[in-house]
Amino acid sequence: MDTTPVAGVADLPTLSIVRHPLVQHKITLLRDRRTTTKDFKELVDEIAMLMAYEVTRNLTLAPAPVETPLEHTTGWLVSGKKLTLVPILRAGLGMVEGMLRLVPGARVGHIGLYRDHSTLEPVDYYFKVPGDAAERDFFVLDPMLATGGSAAAAVHSLKRAGAERISFICLVAAPEGVRRLAAAHPDVPVYCAALDRELNEQGYILPGLGDAGDRLFGTR
Ligand code: PRP
Ligand code: URA
Repeated sequence: MDTTPVAGVADLPTLSIVRHPLVQHKITLLRDRRTTTKDFKELVDEIAMLMAYEVTRNLTLAPAPVETPLEHTTGWLVSGKKLTLVPILRAGLGMVEGMLRLVPGARVGHIGLYRDHSTLEPVDYYFKVPGDAAERDFFVLDPMLATGGSAAAAVHSLKRAGAERISFICLVAAPEGVRRLAAAHPDVPVYCAALDRELNEQGYILPGLGDAGDRLFGTR
């Protein structure tokens, strides 16, 4: 799968875009205001699964003995128990099952954050990840990277808990959010399916897809 770093956007060095045609097709369906809650949920799940293939390309492999029908040999297995998915509540929850389908051995932590509607700054309300954080690869999941406040706060909390290897995976990113996350955490690679134009005055991504949490869970 091609995840070419963004051509011509020299100031976004942490960002890679997953450009697979199926991902791009499904992102367009996701943006459509007529997409129902049921279809929105299924699309987020499918895109997360397709992105999982790409964002796991650098996972550590361990040799593993295996008996084929013909002989004994040594293959390779992902050391999946060291992988941890961390959805940012609520909308990140929609990406968990799709990723787990490809890495079923992963653990799942949770970070609860919401954006204050007037300041747009994140307010945190929940944090739970496995204890051996320094030994794990963390994938923080959230469909939207808008101002970057929630992503930066989530990464900060993970580092405070001892995490050393963290990637951020979203569906739609705004340049402002990619820059803010990179300024605060230049060691954190960011993967998205689409880099959009800008934020509006309310902090929504344009053209975007609206409020991901509301569309996923049918609230509003
Ligand atoms: C949305 C989204 C991100 C955040 C992105 O969550 O899922 O977590 O906004 O915005 P930012 O980059 O400007 O911080 P929201 O705060 O709406 O909470 P919800 O998922 O509970 O609806
Ligand atoms: N959160 C969302 O759900 N959508 C946006 O466009 C920005 C933040």
